[in-house]
Amino acid sequence: MHSLFWLLSLWTLCLFWPRLQGKLIRIPIQFQASFVASRRQYRASRSSLLVKYNVAGGQDITSRTSGATETLDNRLNLEYAGPISIGTPGQPFNMLFDTGSANLWVPSAECSAKNLACQHHHRYNSSASSTYVPDGRRFAIAYGTGSLSGRLAQDTVSIAQLVVRNQTFGIATHEPGSTFVDTNFAGIVGLGFRAIAEQRIKPLFENMCEQHLVDECMFSFYLKRNGSERMGGELLFGGVDKTKFSGSLTYVPLTYARYWQFQLDGIELGGTIINKNRQAIADTGTALLAAPPREYLIINSLLGGLPTSDKEHLLNCSEIDKLPEIVFIIGGQRFGLQPRDYVRTVTNDDGSTICLSGFTLIEAEFWILGDVFIGRYYTAFDVGHTRIGFAPAA
Ligand SMILES: *[C@@H]1O[C@H](CO)[C@@H](O)[C@H](O)[C@H]1NC(C)=O
Ligand SMILES: *[C@@H]1O[C@H](CO)[C@@H](O)[C@H](O)[C@H]1NC(C)=O
Ligand SMILES: *[C@@H]1O[C@H](CO)[C@@H](O)[C@H](O)[C@H]1NC(C)=O
Ligand SMILES: *[C@@H]1O[C@H](CO)[C@@H](O)[C@H](O)[C@H]1NC(C)=O
Repeated sequence: MHSLFWLLSLWTLCLFWPRLQGKLIRIPIQFQASFVASRRQYRASRSSLLVKYNVAGGQDITSRTSGATETLDNRLNLEYAGPISIGTPGQPFNMLFDTGSANLWVPSAECSAKNLACQHHHRYNSSASSTYVPDGRRFAIAYGTGSLSGRLAQDTVSIAQLVVRNQTFGIATHEPGSTFVDTNFAGIVGLGFRAIAEQRIKPLFENMCEQHLVDECMFSFYLKRNGSERMGGELLFGGVDKTKFSGSLTYVPLTYARYWQFQLDGIELGGTIINKNRQAIADTGTALLAAPPREYLIINSLLGGLPTSDKEHLLNCSEIDKLPEIVFIIGGQRFGLQPRDYVRTVTNDDGSTICLSGFTLIEAEFWILGDVFIGRYYTAFDVGHTRIGFAPAA
């Protein structure tokens, strides 16, 4: 009788265990302790962003490489990264989870000893994985200082308890310049849609949903904006964590399922309407806020920023708290950022501390809302319903 009871319990457990496990998958996101907020880094992240969206910004790298050598230093000094493992047995990698791109890539064990970016990180060794399947195709992704290139592979990718089978990804044998040398991540997990993926490779989350590894085909980001904390936040697959935001999420449909692009009803600065009916892209792979030319000019002039030859705007550090709030109106709701959020306090080339406007220029018809925004607003990336939701982060 007893053994039957236990057998039944065990059977019930086996039935429901995978579902319980599959409910919400939490990925701890680390905040990079060694993050350097320097003016150089700020410029580098602007260049990276422009290359990523394939637009010039008044100071794109090609036009600047002639005179200034420093722009070749195009490091991606991002603050947030989290763990995944690839292959059987699993090979661990710290990754940047980037909603502004759609490919997954890691450094390859076959990269040359001279390639510093590759040597500085964990490398994927296909010979050491029993689940590796060769693909045969080559791949390349353009970055500011050149192309990241290598070949494609297929293997099992594990993220916390989620095991995604047959994932195609890039293994890089060449990483350009200094871009990835001292990043806290080895590679990138693109969380954008297949339409923007190189060679239209099926993105990780698409496989995850097709393989029914999550109850709901969505993921959410909670990024803490406090550099002193080791735990930088959480990426959640399969749903949202209501304890991490206040009120309810305001959802808006995606205008295009390529990037995480949606309608901005309006932008206001200190009560002045700057523009209406714009598009915006939520991008966890950048720290910046990028504005189209018109808004960029109006906002920086209203902030009293002193323009520099580099298209930066200097602000007086002792007057930051007097600056107005910027409000993005999304789905009829107001999402504000305080000056402490949008002003970048950085170390200048001479070692002094300066304050720069966080509104940078992008020669495009859309805004880019990076970690500055997502850090303030818990963001739900709902793949299944092609919509995005925001709520004030706890
Ligand atoms: C890759 O793994 C194989 C099998 O474990 C091993 O023999 C080889 O040395 C590894 N290669 C590198 C570059 O680590
Ligand atoms: C992965 O690919 C193998 C071989 O093509 C196939 O047998 C298996 O069903 C696939 N698994 C999933 C989860 O798609
Ligand atoms: C950051 O975190 C530390 C310790 O957790 C806390 O003392 C500090 O007040 C926080 N700073 C901000 C700006 O939230
Ligand atoms: C910055 O603001 C402070 C306090 O309002 C003022 O004393 C100082 O002169 C300003 N600095 C510059 C460079 O304008």
